[in-house]
Amino acid sequence: MTTPEVLGYTAITTAQDRRVESARPDRLFHDELAELFVAAAVADIDDDHLLGWILRGQTLADVVPSIRGYLALRTRYFDDQAIAAGCPQVVIVGAGLDARAYRLTWPTTTVVFEIDTADVTAFKTGVLAGVDHRPSCRRIAIAADLREDWSTPLAAAGFDRETATLWLAEGLLPYLDDAGTSRLMTTIAALSAPGSGIVLDHAYPAARTTEDNAAGRARGVLFGSVVADPLVWLGRFGWRAELADPVDLAARLHRDLPPLLDPARPGAPSFWLATATRQAG
Ligand SMILES: C[S@@+](CC[C@H](N)C(=O)[O-])C[C@H]1O[C@@H](n2cnc3c(N)ncnc32)[C@H](O)[C@@H]1O
Repeated sequence: MTTPEVLGYTAITTAQDRRVESARPDRLFHDELAELFVAAAVADIDDDHLLGWILRGQTLADVVPSIRGYLALRTRYFDDQAIAAGCPQVVIVGAGLDARAYRLTWPTTTVVFEIDTADVTAFKTGVLAGVDHRPSCRRIAIAADLREDWSTPLAAAGFDRETATLWLAEGLLPYLDDAGTSRLMTTIAALSAPGSGIVLDHAYPAARTTEDNAAGRARGVLFGSVVADPLVWLGRFGWRAELADPVDLAARLHRDLPPLLDPARPGAPSFWLATATRQAG
């Protein structure tokens, strides 16, 4: 098993956050697989590698302070929205090492497709092959680059475009550029039957200027696209959206407001979360 490179690192650091969250007595979710993903990655990474350092006890927030508290809140938001949507078909784009297919109690008839790059998918498949966990849904993993043609392998795996679908894009869009994001959203819209929904998070333009995002930007992997007005932008792709109110969300889950969602922070907030449903016609 080979640990994924560059983009895949982000999947591993997110799993690390889920591992840490899952160990809290007041955890927002319990992701038993996160620990196994992190352990498999640690075994494969040099001591002096930044990722190795993060995985050996730190979280991403120690490197990017504004993200503190965000990933746990975000994951719980996606989990809650996914169950509430009740769609028979779910597609997680940029699924990374997320274990929502296992963690949540789905109707047995639900099909969950997970799409990510070939290296992340192979790493995840390798770890899952060694565990006894079984999802209550039918889970299908697809290796594809979301900047290329991913709808053909999705259809080949059994995706039904006539069935209402819930799309989950958690922590993905900041890694695509404008053209890639538009193409992805256009394809998703074309595959969304009436009754479909989407849950997503993305960056406001402020993310491009905040100091603590500088490392990701410098490596050229972050914020190729940002969205200033999420409701208008989602409307262009045929979605009627509602933004999560970060202050409410944090209060409801008894957590501090993550700095990157804080409307009172100078130049912020830098991230938004939204849930949208397909507009008729
Ligand atoms: C920050 S991680 C989030 C993963 C997962 N959604 C989660 O919450 O744990 C971003 C994921 O997007 C995936 N990704 C980024 N660009 C991609 C692309 N062009 N095609 C497929 N996956 C991509 C990465 O491989 C990575 O797994």
